[in-house]
Amino acid sequence: MTHSSTADAAPKSVQRWSAADYAKNGRFVQEMAGAVFAMLAPKHGERILDLGCGDGTLTAEIKAAGADVLGVDLSDELLAVARMKGLTVRKMDGHELDFVHEFDAVFSNAALHWMRAPERVIAGVARALKPRGRFVGELGGHGNVAALATAMRAVNKTRRGDPALVTPWFFPTVEEYSRLLTRGGFTVQEIVLVSRPTPLKTGIEGWLKTFGRSFFDQFPEPERTAALNEAIELVRPSLCDSRGAWTADHVRLRFSAERSA
Ligand code: BEZ
Repeated sequence: MTHSSTADAAPKSVQRWSAADYAKNGRFVQEMAGAVFAMLAPKHGERILDLGCGDGTLTAEIKAAGADVLGVDLSDELLAVARMKGLTVRKMDGHELDFVHEFDAVFSNAALHWMRAPERVIAGVARALKPRGRFVGELGGHGNVAALATAMRAVNKTRRGDPALVTPWFFPTVEEYSRLLTRGGFTVQEIVLVSRPTPLKTGIEGWLKTFGRSFFDQFPEPERTAALNEAIELVRPSLCDSRGAWTADHVRLRFSAERSA
């Protein structure tokens, strides 16, 4: 998962990952990837790039389908887990893909929203693909984690935190991402924005600690715990039901596009 506004220069990545936290609290990322994986439909012998492969869970599924897959990500910790699974992976920023006409398909799940200069990412994907190669992906779409993001902004304001650390994500609309893909040399075949409420088996604290780690780590203890508890109480009325079960307010943008010949 590579991370880093739609400005020309990509803002430096700020997210840090714990492989253990990700394995425990982020399992839904792969468990709910069935629709985008079905859109990829990897075939035996195809050369596929998994952009933002994380710990390689889906990379392994692409490999199991018989494809020759390479995963790229920025997190050393998650890449180490992927290597332990016997996968071929490389450390690379999604804004700086350096492949030339090598892949039949580029796949990305739950990673593109961390890459905040999408023009550069899409240009690198187009260059990496063979003519008529496909780009299939899913990312957080407009409105994703709205309650969580608003709570983090509120906590950041009252605690005078670093504005660069709050909600470092790119959640585009269908129109915005379609325009980016088209300008980048793709024909959009399918693109949808879907609300996908996601049950959080390990609760909200796990989500905040895993996906908001760099944000909360800016505060020294005991302020860090206080900030976390404040965020939890702010989202509780929206995301926790009467039985104490938490659901993340996920919205997904899912697309399939073909590079021009
Ligand atoms: C998501 O998968 O929607 C997501 C993950 C981390 C931060 C924000 C959103």
